Amino acid sequence: MNYRHVYHAGNHADVLKHIVMMRVFLHLKKKDKPFLFLDAHAGTGLYALWGDEALKTLEWQDGVGRFYDPAGRAIPFAAECETLLEPWRQVIASVNESGQPLSRYPGSPGFALQFLRKSDRVLLNELHPEDHGKLAAFVSGDKRVTINEGDAAIAVKAHLPPPERRGFILIDPPYELDDEPRRAVQMLRDGHRRFATGAFALWYPVTGDGLARLVAKEAQALAMPKMLKAELLVREVIVDRGLAGSGLILVNPPWPLADELNMLGPALCKRLRQDDGARWSLDWLNAPD
Ligand SMILES: C[S@@+](CC[C@H](N)C(=O)[O-])C[C@H]1O[C@@H](n2cnc3c(N)ncnc32)[C@H](O)[C@@H]1O
Repeated sequence: MNYRHVYHAGNHADVLKHIVMMRVFLHLKKKDKPFLFLDAHAGTGLYALWGDEALKTLEWQDGVGRFYDPAGRAIPFAAECETLLEPWRQVIASVNESGQPLSRYPGSPGFALQFLRKSDRVLLNELHPEDHGKLAAFVSGDKRVTINEGDAAIAVKAHLPPPERRGFILIDPPYELDDEPRRAVQMLRDGHRRFATGAFALWYPVTGDGLARLVAKEAQALAMPKMLKAELLVREVIVDRGLAGSGLILVNPPWPLADELNMLGPALCKRLRQDDGARWSLDWLNAPD
């Protein structure tokens, strides 16, 4: 396991994933009944943007860095998009000093803990021992949280369905190993078999090696009734040139999400665009009845 998210935190892929995640949380919170957030690949929870690791790649500067000016002020979108970004922006503001340049970016656990309610439950799974240690320190004392140092595939099987019968499951692997795309889709299948009414998000990279197409094809073949694919390319896809974009397979997305993403996606694409290959797409792989 070489992958460390600290090198990539706040990049364009994180931005898309976390904005979508916050919209899902917001819709789940509309009902009083508590829910479970199961983060199968949690990372450490919070990242320094000026630390040695982030400075090596500077990926965040073409990600969250495009949403704030050098003084840390939000660079606004049109009002209807800004409203949709508000929960994401609020959490970023809560981990940064007002009037100062952006210095920290939350990971998925960081976004969840700031935004979820006292009654909601958060299950964070992280296999890397060092990142697990940092995560444990980050969540220390928060009674909503259980953390687990194990394989994501086992966590998904072990903890679903949740007793609350409401939940959101994030599957966000690093795709370091050859079999990881298939394992990721299997996790979605196993999770959905246990908890067919849960909301799921499976993240994937677009790298020019066919991985993105494979994940989408295999996910679609699961024939789950409500499956949406949101994909954002920030540049032309070239083999062996790294991350050109990313996507999310969303199962049982809360109903307003597709409309919201139809509005937000083109604006995000414009903001994060690196060359003429930038594209936004939103497709139902299996449409609701
Ligand atoms: C893309 S990062 C997660 C980022 C995080 N979800 C966020 O949005 O802030 C993937 C994480 O999965 C962890 N990981 C890798 N293989 C794993 C496995 N088999 N089970 C659980 N975690 C794993 C890595 O150590 C890494 O922290």
